Amino acid sequence: MRTLKVRTYTGTKDPAVTQRELDNRALARLAAAEGFVLLKNEKNLLPLAEGSSVALYGIGAGKTIKGGTGSGDVNERDSVTIYQGMMDAGFAVTTEDWIREYDARYEAARMEWRDGILERTEGMEGSVGFFEVYSTTPFVMPEAAPVTKTEAEVAVYVLSRIAGEGADRYAAAGDYYLTEAEHEMLASICTLYPHVVVAVNAGGLVDLSFLDEFPQIEVLLHILQPGMEGGHAFADVLLGHSVPCGKLVDTWAFGYKDYPSSANFSHNNGNVDKEYYEDGIYVGYRYFDTFDVPVRYGFGYGLSYTTFKVKGTMGEIDPQRATVMASVTNTGAAFSGKEVVQVYVTCPAGKLAKEYRRLVGFAKTDLLAPGESQTLQAEVPLGLLASYDEAAPGWILEAGDYVFWVGSSLAEAKPVGVVRLDETAVLSETRNICPLQEELHEIQPEAAAMEAKRAALAETIKNAGLPVLYLYKKNLPYEKVNYHPNRELVPAAARAWTETLSDEELIALATGDPAKGQGSNLGSAGISVPGSAGETNDCCLEKGLASIVLADGPAGLRLNRFYNVHEDKIVWVPFQFALEGGIFCPGLAEQLPGDRYYQYCTAIPVGTLLAQTWDTALIRKIGQMIGGEMQLFNTTLWLAPGMNIHRNPLCGRNFEYYSEDPLVAGRMAAAMTDGVQSVPGCGTTIKHFACNNQEDNRMGVDSILSERALREIYLKGFEIAVREAQPMSIMTSYNLINGVHAANNADTCTNAVRNEWGFRGVIMTDWCTTLNGPDCTAAGCMRAGNDLVMPGEMIDRENLEKEFAEGSLSRDDLVACVARLVNIIWQSNMYEGAEAYNK
Ligand code: BGC
Repeated sequence: MRTLKVRTYTGTKDPAVTQRELDNRALARLAAAEGFVLLKNEKNLLPLAEGSSVALYGIGAGKTIKGGTGSGDVNERDSVTIYQGMMDAGFAVTTEDWIREYDARYEAARMEWRDGILERTEGMEGSVGFFEVYSTTPFVMPEAAPVTKTEAEVAVYVLSRIAGEGADRYAAAGDYYLTEAEHEMLASICTLYPHVVVAVNAGGLVDLSFLDEFPQIEVLLHILQPGMEGGHAFADVLLGHSVPCGKLVDTWAFGYKDYPSSANFSHNNGNVDKEYYEDGIYVGYRYFDTFDVPVRYGFGYGLSYTTFKVKGTMGEIDPQRATVMASVTNTGAAFSGKEVVQVYVTCPAGKLAKEYRRLVGFAKTDLLAPGESQTLQAEVPLGLLASYDEAAPGWILEAGDYVFWVGSSLAEAKPVGVVRLDETAVLSETRNICPLQEELHEIQPEAAAMEAKRAALAETIKNAGLPVLYLYKKNLPYEKVNYHPNRELVPAAARAWTETLSDEELIALATGDPAKGQGSNLGSAGISVPGSAGETNDCCLEKGLASIVLADGPAGLRLNRFYNVHEDKIVWVPFQFALEGGIFCPGLAEQLPGDRYYQYCTAIPVGTLLAQTWDTALIRKIGQMIGGEMQLFNTTLWLAPGMNIHRNPLCGRNFEYYSEDPLVAGRMAAAMTDGVQSVPGCGTTIKHFACNNQEDNRMGVDSILSERALREIYLKGFEIAVREAQPMSIMTSYNLINGVHAANNADTCTNAVRNEWGFRGVIMTDWCTTLNGPDCTAAGCMRAGNDLVMPGEMIDRENLEKEFAEGSLSRDDLVACVARLVNIIWQSNMYEGAEAYNK
């Protein structure tokens, strides 16, 4: 017997800072510092001495960008800018006047930007239109005043960029490239100051060719968008209180055009309707490493204030996994530090062309004192060595040599041993999914060049006398996936209960809660917990079924900072109330009647920065912290983590996502899920499933790709997260995959996720997916196994009623979807005595 919790207003009436906020800020600060990547530190300029004089410049000095815009934003109490962080740490900042002057320009430009948006959206109903205008009109930061010499010897220049959902970035000045004014400013700084530090405060990559032009820049630090404690973390690293230990999770090419998807990506070729994934499996370092294209900073790279020696050795092998060891020694004299060890594999060429190397494991040391050593061990499931053979169809291990590499980055990795397989083996026999609807030309490396590379590698291995371990096909596991229709993949108890519901109740439960007017509200439709993204229908409350609250993600829990209660009702405010610190609703906060409740949440660093820690234990802790805030604010599902692949640096949402590599993305999402779901009744929603790699025309773009690339690159991270951590929920993406909307796609939702990976949770749509024409409908979602249409609109309900009446939607399909939702709701924190989500 489950007892519903009595809902209370969330938050505190007292606006004072709580101990929870303080503790969580400390963790956000630690995570930021551990995720920064030190890319250059000539003459060991860093760390700086306590109390140093520093000339601080750049937009991000006093206006540090803590995170991206849109649903990925978080309404924290306040954020620490770099200027603030440095002042708190005792630096003598010599450019206070310059910073103050820039603040004034910034505020004026922001008001102008706001007024433009308000003018264009006047009279619009709901929030979809507003959001469209807002997200496609990014704020352009104004130019700064010229730089003059101050008495400091060291200058710090913070290069900032904003991006967010709904729009991609541009390979243009002011975005990927410096503006003329920025370029000039950097030139003056490099002339005026003998020592220059540049910090990149952007959601993703930017052009770094200025490093070639200005060799005076001695330090480059990639701080991404570091969350509310970024300024403190920055000072921690500058002073060496925190020793850099992050590593890149994306390849930083010499030029934008070096990325293989650049010519066609999004608006670059004028076609935002169709995105041809001609790069196939050659995404990120897989491309650069295979095609021998030189890079500026490679995958897995990052410096420390100390140095490490990494010595990898091949361990044992069994039919499930290979074990690899690495002994790591801090060889420096002055600093303790942490090192990340990475394991890569070169798979044999055979029937299928392969990338030269792929990441198959990683581990991070503890804090090692000078001279101290630690031995790390990485277990590599052999499934990670498999490739997808569309003809089989299935996952195969081809006969031949699998060369294992170990090192502190892709470039530093050294071969440590070989696993030799006697015959090609099928590990898992599957069905084909998401067939191509049109021709696609994928790039392929030149066979002769690849052969030469492999021959040279074989020679190295022979000369080094590296161990060869033997693996036999006959010992390997084999699985033939049994495919069941959507309606059969339902937990029995939830199905039995759900079957007792009326048709009306089923339809209501499948479509959010239109009656609450959350319908066309993008992003902030929740009613019970103000600022949450939505909630499920409460039509069965009297039958004991809770209505659960869903809130964004991924840079923390996105709720309104505060709300008012008047005559025992929450005072309604428009969606844009909390956006951008409330600037779109000036004066409204002061006018709200009633008592005020505060719900300050922690703004953690953006996803990419978290991934740069390569520290799954730390990510798990952060997940647990977020779970704690969810518990406090009556939220069951966190609409996070985001885990799409960084296919191209210009995707507007890259900051929310982890990496160009599916193993990094998958392991991070699994760790985050583990953490959140260790808190009773809380769950994650991994998103956006799948191939959401472009934001322009995000609801209409068709991602056209081979099944092999889909499975090896774009689904792989999701597969790892599901298999390792069993998230409570998955959110489908807006885009189409080979002509079928991700939300209406039975191949991905039912065949891959449930039949192949064993997912037991609930699948929901992204917000308002079904409002975009007849190709993506609520009934289509139910048939595909996408259980819940969010936030739920009257047209969704009408569509279900119509198709149900016409017989194109069966009651069995509907029951299956609703039963999966019910099963999650039953395990939610909306019941007394809920337990950690049952894996
Ligand atoms: C975003 C989702 C988000 C949802 C609810 C959508 O616009 O794409 O990532 O979770 O809104 O806020």
